[in-house]
Amino acid sequence: MTRGKFITFEGGEGAGKSTQAKLLAERLSSLGVEPVLTREPGGSPFGEQVRDFILSPSTVAHTPLAEACLFSAARTDHLDHLIRPALKRGAWVICDRFTDSTRAYQGAAGGLPEKDVLTLERLVLGATAIDLTLVLDLDAKAGLTRASTRRTAQSPGAFIQADTFEARTLAFHERLRQGFLAIAKAEPQRVVVIDGQQSPLHIAEQVWAAVVARLGPMPLASGA
Ligand code: TYD
Repeated sequence: MTRGKFITFEGGEGAGKSTQAKLLAERLSSLGVEPVLTREPGGSPFGEQVRDFILSPSTVAHTPLAEACLFSAARTDHLDHLIRPALKRGAWVICDRFTDSTRAYQGAAGGLPEKDVLTLERLVLGATAIDLTLVLDLDAKAGLTRASTRRTAQSPGAFIQADTFEARTLAFHERLRQGFLAIAKAEPQRVVVIDGQQSPLHIAEQVWAAVVARLGPMPLASGA
C-alpha cells in the first residue's frame, strides 16, 4: 500500500483555511481518494481536550515555551492516533493548521527562539513529513475583521469573547503574517502562498493547481 499524502493549511486568523480544507477534501473524495480532514489544535480525543484548555479565555497567561509544549503534546497524540495510521493506509490527510502555526504563533510572533521551536518540532514529528503546505496570506487587519464577523454571525446578538489568540494585538498578527511568509521563502519546495483576499472559488482553483503540480498525478478511482 502506497503511503498517502500529508497536506497542511496555514495562515493567520480569518484567512479561510477551514473552507479550503473542506473543499479540497471533497474534491479528492470525488476522485476516489480517501481524504482525512482534521485540525490543530485537536484532531484526536486528547488533542481536542488540550484544545479546549489552550483556547479557553479563562486559562491563565503562560510563556510561549509553555504554549508550544501544549500544542506539541496535542500534536504527538494527533500524529499517533490519526495522522500516521491514515497515511499508512493510503489516505490523504488534510490538516487545518500544523507545525508552521507553532513556528509562526509561538516563534515569530510570540518570541520563542527558532532553535527551541525546531527542537520541539523534530521531536514530535520524527520521520513524518508534510508533503505540501498552503499558506493563505491575508492582511492582518482584514483577517481579524473577518474572524470577528464570523464569530458574531455564529451567535447573533450574543457577546462572545475572542479566543486567546484572536484577542492579541494587531502588531502580533502582523509578525505572524511575516512569520508565515518567511517559512514559505525558506522552504519553497514544500510551501505555496496563495492570496487569501480572493473569492473562495478562486482560492480553491489555486489550491487544486498547487496540489496537482506538486503531488500529481492523482490516483484514479477504480473504474474511472
Ligand atoms: P482556531 O479557532 O482553530 O483558529 P483558526 O480558525 O484561525 O484556525 O484556533 C486555533 C488557534 O490556535 C489559532 O489562533 C492559532 C493558534 N495556534 C497556535 O498558536 N499554535 C499552534 O501550533 C496551533 C496549531 C494553533
